[in-house]
Amino acid sequence: MWHGRFKHDTAGIVQDFTQSLDIDWLMYDADIQGSIAHVRMLGKTGILPPDEAAKIEAGLLRVKQEIDAGDFTPSESLEDVHMNIEARLTEIEPLGAKLHTARSRNDQVATTTRIYLRTRLHELKQELRELLTVIITNAERHKDIIIPGYTHMQQAQPISMGHYWLSWFEAFRRDMSRLNFVLASLDECPLGAGALAGSTLPIDREYTSELLDFSRPTRNSLDTVANRDYMTDYHYFASVFMIHVSRLCTDLITWNTQEFAFIVLPDEFCTGSSMMPQKKNPDVLELSRGKTGQIIGHMIDLLMNLKGLPMTYNRDLQEDKRGLWASLDTVGSVMKIIASLLERVDVDEAAALRGFSRGYSLATDVAEWLVMKGVPFREAHQQVGRLVGWCIENNIAFGEMSLSQWQEHIPEADPELLKILTPRESVMRRDTYGGTGFLQVEKQIQEAKTRI
Ligand code: ARG
Repeated sequence: MWHGRFKHDTAGIVQDFTQSLDIDWLMYDADIQGSIAHVRMLGKTGILPPDEAAKIEAGLLRVKQEIDAGDFTPSESLEDVHMNIEARLTEIEPLGAKLHTARSRNDQVATTTRIYLRTRLHELKQELRELLTVIITNAERHKDIIIPGYTHMQQAQPISMGHYWLSWFEAFRRDMSRLNFVLASLDECPLGAGALAGSTLPIDREYTSELLDFSRPTRNSLDTVANRDYMTDYHYFASVFMIHVSRLCTDLITWNTQEFAFIVLPDEFCTGSSMMPQKKNPDVLELSRGKTGQIIGHMIDLLMNLKGLPMTYNRDLQEDKRGLWASLDTVGSVMKIIASLLERVDVDEAAALRGFSRGYSLATDVAEWLVMKGVPFREAHQQVGRLVGWCIENNIAFGEMSLSQWQEHIPEADPELLKILTPRESVMRRDTYGGTGFLQVEKQIQEAKTRI
């Protein structure tokens, strides 16, 4: 395409090295959409006679049909998806040579990529919405089940399993907001920025923007061809999402161990060992967690590429998509498989409750009960702390102590206190906004349904 300027052809080894067909061919549909909008604009503004614009559009549709049907094999010698489509168009319709009027591949690449990415992000939104739905369903299934809540991996206070699921609803709901932000950040149309400075021809950027369903044209042509922020925004969304997934996976992997044993994973989502007949391994969870590093890696890859690049387009930018595609595929598959796995997770409440026998996770309840009797919290904390120390030394659980034993350590103790010292009472009484109390969890579930 640049024969005019050159005396020699590009060396084969350079063609191989510089082509981007292997990563951009999958955007052919988006590229043709962009070209159709562009040529309609050329016709509407009179830059091309309307009948010529119509013929070019018809030719573009034929190219699309050929590609859809698998009848067209692109060539790496034409570098990328854009040049392949234009070359095929011009074979079919010689007027195709007018398509690239007032356009550069720099604004074209940016437009095509935004259109393609937008479609993929809408698919991810759907997957994420499904994951959120499964989480709400789990919260409903398990709202009355009590498990130990942990800080520092030490038993802290009993919580409703429904409350636990809702904690992930919050995290993934924030991921949804970040995903929406990515969509907003790509929602301006680059077409018409040209190579970097706009065009001498009377183009109508509002019109192409509207045809391609963007909110408006981009504001600065230099920034337009240099900007990849919508991709870095995506990678940040993806990284945070995967970090959430990896933390959730660690919980479930831990709770599925023989030592905790209060989560039951579906057989269909586990694998066995080639040697040890008893094994049922949580591989799906481990692999999902294990993929997190790649996703963060793709973000670092792009950030490193962009660091120090001068205004405006530089060929370095062609390397922006490889990691992006890999990330989109991985994040989509993780969303899907985690949602299907969660749907089938069961909780063994008896096993979860067994964990409470020696954990003294009702100690805060005792201290707070004393506060209501007028004891300063710091004093109550000390008193109950000493009691726990005594219990550990004497190998006795709260539930095994008689009232008189209680009173030796806590003079205020009465039958009222003993009544509230069960995990169920403890959960129920944490009836504060956002807390684990059963009524609160029920409210949060109803609210979550409206926030999805
Ligand atoms: N294949 C290139 C890419 O995807 C096309 C951009 C060409 N622009 C240029 N100034 N060489 O980025």
